[in-house]
Amino acid sequence: MNRHDETRILKQCLNLLADKSTTLSAETHTSPVERYTDPQRFEQERHAIHQALPVAYLHSSELPNPNDFRTVATHSGNVLFTRTEAGEVKAFHNVCRHRGAQVESRASGCAKAFSCPYHAWRYGNDGQLLSAPFEQTCFPELDKSQSGLAPIPCVEAYGFIWLCPTAKNDDDAEKQLEAHLEPVKADLEWLQCDGLHKFETHRRTWKANWKIVTEGGLETYHFKFAHKNTIGPYFLSNTCVTDQLGAHFRVVMPTEELKSVTKDLIQDVRLRDIAHVVYSIAPQMVLLVQKNHIDWIQTVPISVDQSEIFITPLIPKPVEDLTEKELDYWQRNREISLNTLDEDFELGEQIQAGMASGANSKLTFGRNEGALATFNAWVEERLNSS
Ligand code: FES
Ligand SMILES: [Fe+2]
Repeated sequence: MNRHDETRILKQCLNLLADKSTTLSAETHTSPVERYTDPQRFEQERHAIHQALPVAYLHSSELPNPNDFRTVATHSGNVLFTRTEAGEVKAFHNVCRHRGAQVESRASGCAKAFSCPYHAWRYGNDGQLLSAPFEQTCFPELDKSQSGLAPIPCVEAYGFIWLCPTAKNDDDAEKQLEAHLEPVKADLEWLQCDGLHKFETHRRTWKANWKIVTEGGLETYHFKFAHKNTIGPYFLSNTCVTDQLGAHFRVVMPTEELKSVTKDLIQDVRLRDIAHVVYSIAPQMVLLVQKNHIDWIQTVPISVDQSEIFITPLIPKPVEDLTEKELDYWQRNREISLNTLDEDFELGEQIQAGMASGANSKLTFGRNEGALATFNAWVEERLNSS
């Protein structure tokens, strides 16, 4: 986002404040309950969306140095992410090419090579098979150059490490990611996530369909009510500037601080100082942009009525460089985010349970919730075109 766009959005915020209004769609919409409760449909969504599109699984600061590695559960199974000696990020199925044991069981560490615990076949962090015990007598035909760990196309971009499971190779993955993120490219560059550092991740499974979780981030209608005991009082009621950017959304949520801005002061104001900006990056990333940091929220669908949610604050300094005062500041900040988001996810669980009761055959989206309808239309389009 350049200064021109920031100024344009600031003006839109001021106009909405003057009109006591929000971004409105032409009409109201509905969403049938089966879309959130049908297990067969869930599998179709997982296949057409979550396993097909690029997904960020790590922030770059989680593999800060050459030879660092991490193992992560993904939609492609357990994946071993490495940073090679040359600094390149690679991703492999964490599955031995001999008889399929998991090669690395640690969550993270630093290693130039990995030895399978079963029969000690050894792989470099570039995936190459280096050695197999008794190779010459027991595996005389083994071609080590063809028996490296199975790679998964992977790209490091905008401060994150993305898997592109349907790409043919890393180059193809780069093209796929570029096409997928093109409509939010300028915004991702503006955020400079590659200069941030991961703070402690919070992880919990909630009993709610992934779409309910996504929908909760696309409107501010609920702020003054659902968040009345946390952040509600700091935000304008039912006021946000929402833009669809390809498969993604940007929702600018002004705080009460917008009231101190006049049109002639706009040039001196940073959007981030008077609003939270939510980026919903399809299919499972949300970036909650605040004054000096970003909360990265990952919603990983587990089943039709369960989602695992990871919340990771991305902050300006590495944790090991923080003073005691700074550490305390970021811990308190993290608590506020977690408490607020818990309010959203608890409501998500209630909605899911309510659907199971049979009380409603559909959900209703008002004109102020137009982004929810557009998001769901995008889901339908993906399903129909897969
Ligand atoms: S399964 Fe890995 S060495 Fe045998
Ligand atoms: Fe919320």
